[in-house]
Amino acid sequence: MSETVQPLGRSEFGNPANAGNLLTIEDATALLNQWVNNDRLRLHMRQVAAVMKAWAIEKEDADEQIAMKWELAGLLHDADWERFPHDHCRIIIEELEQRNIDPEIIHCIASHGPRYFGVEPNNRMDKMIYVFDELSGFIHASALIRPTRYEGMDVKSVMKKLKTPSFAAQVNRDDITDSLSRIDFSLEEIIEFIIRIQQHVQ
Ligand SMILES: [Fe+2]
Ligand SMILES: [Fe+2]
Repeated sequence: MSETVQPLGRSEFGNPANAGNLLTIEDATALLNQWVNNDRLRLHMRQVAAVMKAWAIEKEDADEQIAMKWELAGLLHDADWERFPHDHCRIIIEELEQRNIDPEIIHCIASHGPRYFGVEPNNRMDKMIYVFDELSGFIHASALIRPTRYEGMDVKSVMKKLKTPSFAAQVNRDDITDSLSRIDFSLEEIIEFIIRIQQHVQ
């Protein structure tokens, strides 16, 4: 996340009357493809979406609609980053507000970087997108330097790389520590989960 991002300056997002209004995954993907040219960034969002959805189903006992909310938040959280780096994530938030999308999805996107956007994660969906965002990218960077990519990748090697400041230096370790302090799962558990889900995302 760029240090030049502006705080959003508000903590209420969307309209409670729009609860339950979701985009279809097809519409969200179309928006993504229209707004984002960079394949790496598109992949990042598909990865976070897959991890969010899987977590909702496995750990939060989410039904289909709730799992889709988690997935959509992941899929769109950086949709405006390429075109509007200084107004990330204000532009995608305003777009979803205009489309009358469920406020929980919008709040989740707004809370994926509390230090940057000035929005505190409230519920578990908010907290998990914050946890997964940086770690997902870090684990993918770790996979890319391995000849076998995700195959045979273990938690220990990722933990070791996290302690090497020069590796994927743009990934802020303080954000990872802060995000984990807000949940009851260990860093090792989260890394294991991300590796397991993310290896299947194309
Ligand atoms: Fe972001
Ligand atoms: Fe992200």
